[in-house]
Amino acid sequence: MTATVIDGKAFAAKVRGQVADGVAKLKEAHGITPGLAVVLVGEDPASQVYVRSKGKMTVEVGMASFEHRLDADTPEADLLAVIERLNADPAVHGILVQLPLPAHLDSDQVINSIDPAKDVDGFHISNVGLLGTGQKSMVPCTPLGCLMMLRDYHGSLSGMTAVVIGRSNIVGKPMAQLLLGDSCTVTIAHSRTKDLAAVVRQADIVVAAVGRAQMVTGDWIKPGATVIDVGINRIDNPDGGTRLVGDADYESCAAVAGAITPVPGGVGPMTIACLLANTLTACCRANGLPEPEGLTA
Ligand code: GUN
Repeated sequence: MTATVIDGKAFAAKVRGQVADGVAKLKEAHGITPGLAVVLVGEDPASQVYVRSKGKMTVEVGMASFEHRLDADTPEADLLAVIERLNADPAVHGILVQLPLPAHLDSDQVINSIDPAKDVDGFHISNVGLLGTGQKSMVPCTPLGCLMMLRDYHGSLSGMTAVVIGRSNIVGKPMAQLLLGDSCTVTIAHSRTKDLAAVVRQADIVVAAVGRAQMVTGDWIKPGATVIDVGINRIDNPDGGTRLVGDADYESCAAVAGAITPVPGGVGPMTIACLLANTLTACCRANGLPEPEGLTA
């Protein structure tokens, strides 16, 4: 079998188009412009690339983009004061503090100081609890993007067996909650799981989010299964230079799977698209307006 390639780049462009339509309607009917504030502390090069890309796409869908760049040695009280101002600012509907933060800052404390209604990353403890109990929440962007692609490809996920490899707060745990919410039978596997290959071989849906390059190989995959690859790992090419690969070994998995997301061009582009979707959702909720359809969990 040669797997269907799930084109995350094209799907993300479609989602951004839906967001742009929603933003245009909000402006026209209500004179409201959704606003997203991104806070970056320090000079981490990867974070700078993400933040620039987020700002550009925020403006492209018609939203207001606010950027706050703080020095790497900013005291926690100063960062908390910035967040407090953004919490109180009616032009700001979404707040994202770029992670990782410098080591002297307490990430949990900082994230939990964001107004949960503006927590478009879905990392605030209130949103984690709401998701875990099946209540309306802000859902973390990467798992939301994976869920959208799975629903688009399969329609209903009800009764499917899903194995999530990775137990991070950002991807693995919320992904498992979302799949459970869609009535999958869910296993969370991780680096200590015994006979991981045998566990993964049970799955109709495999979500690989462990951060280990090409760890999941085709012989782990049940024929016809769907592989969602969240990994982004840079490896050396045998003939020089580097390239990006996922947590799944693409060639061998694609030979067995029914469908697979590539790296790059799979889950990655969906993350920012879902951030914009969450900002639109937050803006609608803040104004007591109906939420956009198809852009929430
Ligand atoms: N750093 C890498 N990915 C993310 C993300 O999704 N949200 C935040 N806040 N920081 C990140």
